[in-house]
Amino acid sequence: AIDIRRLRAETGLVTLDSGYMNTGACTSSITYLDGERGVLRYRGYAVDELADKCSFVEVAYLLVHGTLPTRRQLTHFSRLLGRYALIHEDMIHFFDRFPPHAHPMAILSSMVNALSTFYPEITENPLENLDCMVARLLSKVRTIAAFSYKKSIGHPLVYPRHDLSYCANFLNMMFDSPVQPYEIRPEAVAALNKVLILHGDHEQNCSTSTVRIVGSARVNLYASISAGISALWGPLHGGANQAVVEMLERIYNGGGDFRKYVEMAKDPSSLFRLSGFGHRVYKTYDPRARVIKKTCDDLLEALNVSDPLLDIAKELEEYALKDDYFLERNLYPNVDFYSGIIYRALGIPKNMFTVMFALGRLPGWIAHWKELWDDPESRLYRPRQIYTGPGAREFVPLDDRV
Ligand code: ACO
Repeated sequence: AIDIRRLRAETGLVTLDSGYMNTGACTSSITYLDGERGVLRYRGYAVDELADKCSFVEVAYLLVHGTLPTRRQLTHFSRLLGRYALIHEDMIHFFDRFPPHAHPMAILSSMVNALSTFYPEITENPLENLDCMVARLLSKVRTIAAFSYKKSIGHPLVYPRHDLSYCANFLNMMFDSPVQPYEIRPEAVAALNKVLILHGDHEQNCSTSTVRIVGSARVNLYASISAGISALWGPLHGGANQAVVEMLERIYNGGGDFRKYVEMAKDPSSLFRLSGFGHRVYKTYDPRARVIKKTCDDLLEALNVSDPLLDIAKELEEYALKDDYFLERNLYPNVDFYSGIIYRALGIPKNMFTVMFALGRLPGWIAHWKELWDDPESRLYRPRQIYTGPGAREFVPLDDRV
């Protein structure tokens, strides 16, 4: 066993907080989160009210600028989103060089990093033209995401349109085709709008902390966000939305016995966990999951779709929340538990689910990167460690080693 007291004495005064469970790395005025009571606010506004009453573009503006936009500001910001929606034609060739089964998160992260090669001016004076920089990223990431899907299925690209809202444009770029024109359903646009808003920010989660860590070295916005996208990809973080639907499919294909999976998740000798359950900060029901669950019901009803995975998810939730294992550990559905069922209903393929999360989280990442750059007190992130390796050793030349 490791003698932490001795190691601490040898290292000096270091707070060992594995996983940063209790370590505050910064001050921030973007998002308020009370995990005990299940409260989430962006810049002071309750997230469920924003999801109900705002467009995603308004919320993106709020997160980045700190205030809700006036009509004039919103019109200006929306125009910029339209102006920057295209990606450089040379970047389109990048898609041809990825293997056919490349994960869209890998493509997204690479393409966002590549933006810094097309717009190098961003590294010189990043805060000078913030509106353009933010609009460029928000708009282009949406285009990259839709293009990567079209490329993956070998279909011609659908370019962004000026007459469509942010969410309607995305759905159109994803699903319109010369052989089958896409009907933009207002219910689908409304559901997507809500889900993106609910993913907008979540204070110092793994991907946002990654953006801040990378940004603290004064790395440009695109490279910092690209690192955040990589962090989000993991199944313990944003990748959980894909993992949930894969789990529900396995349950469905195996005859619907969700109890077996709940029992397996409780077994300390198994590495299996219920995807979409549990959260580092929430010790009660995730307020986002509550709205997403309701949005799921509303969307499926509006589209007249019935999805057996939704029934399994609800039964599994009910069963797990009666179980002491989950109650004692405060394990409730999180934001990822129901979101995949919405994406399925919209026609979005499973391997794009985490890309959808990234689209929603983008304004939050940008807001954190900007907050860090604006803050004269911010410093290079550089945690310490407690060394547990060998003490000083005598070097042995290669031929003398046994
Ligand atoms: N299923 C079964 N048991 C779980 C689960 C789960 N989903 N989540 C936590 N537990 C158990 C752990 O086994 C542990 O039990 P123990 O005390 O008997 O050892 C206890 O609950 C505490 O879990 P930790 O892993 O210590 O909690 P931590 O805060 O580090 O983890 C996390 C949080 C990673 C989200 C975890 O709950 C998990 O793995 N959930 C499943 C993946 C998931 O849904 N991730 C998305 C989170 S939301 C987001 O990032 C957008």
